Amino acid sequence: MVASGKGGTGKSTLSVYLGARLAAHGARVLLVELDSGLRSVDIIAGVCGKTVYDIEDILSGRCEADKAVVESPLYPGLSVVSAPYSGGEIRAGALRVLAGKMSGCFDIVLLDTAAGLGAPFLAAKSVAGMGLVVITPDTVTMRDGRIVADELFAAGLPSVRLVINRVSVGPFAKNPVKDLDECIDTVGAQLIGVVPQSAELAAAAACGGPLPENILAFAALDNIARRILGEEVPLAVR
Ligand SMILES: Nc1ncnc2c1ncn2[C@@H]1O[C@H](COP(=O)(O)OP(=O)(O)OP(=O)(O)O)[C@@H](O)[C@H]1O
Ligand SMILES: [Mg+2]
Repeated sequence: MVASGKGGTGKSTLSVYLGARLAAHGARVLLVELDSGLRSVDIIAGVCGKTVYDIEDILSGRCEADKAVVESPLYPGLSVVSAPYSGGEIRAGALRVLAGKMSGCFDIVLLDTAAGLGAPFLAAKSVAGMGLVVITPDTVTMRDGRIVADELFAAGLPSVRLVINRVSVGPFAKNPVKDLDECIDTVGAQLIGVVPQSAELAAAAACGGPLPENILAFAALDNIARRILGEEVPLAVR
């Protein structure tokens, strides 16, 4: 599951691109967006206009699960279930049943939650084996990231990892938090990767275009995907 305390840290964007890189390494990946009423994964994954059914339709029994699964035309191996345009509270029990069904067809199910500790977060944490807490390098998302990480530790998730997103790099970089160690210490979870601030990434996400492969953010996301798959990939923060 991908979570954050504050909104807008990059959960949905990173969920799609991590899913894409996990799939590129051979995993069959399903990304389920749980942010009812505020969907965005369909645009980023290039499936906007291709979805008829959503996660709420599946969980309430209005359609079979496979009807709502749409393959991304941009990223082979990545399939998406969108959140509804409006309404619908994600129920933990129903999500657990769905995750059980899907585990036979997919190697990895990514759950993109809504910010905070509401129903999508609670449902996801009841089924997840790994929690990725996404923060940006500023004091507010750090503090709220700590609250989310603590909830995941308390729930007994086998693995809770920190992603620091939108880190400025280069000679004139200005991050609100100077030292990334401060982010790690505040959140209290092991770092799994740092994703740089990237205009190319933001542009690709906004229009549902493919993520360019020649940018640092692509390499950072690929490294995180490989770490999730169990590879030893050194942390190289430039
Ligand atoms: N590394 C990055 N570089 C530049 N822009 C980024 C980066 N990551 C995310 N963004 C941008 O930040 C904005 C918020 O991202 P996103 O919607 O993925 O956040 P979110 O955590 O899912 O938000 P919400 O809490 O509302 O669901 C988007 O405009 C996205 O393009
Ligand atoms: Mg989101």
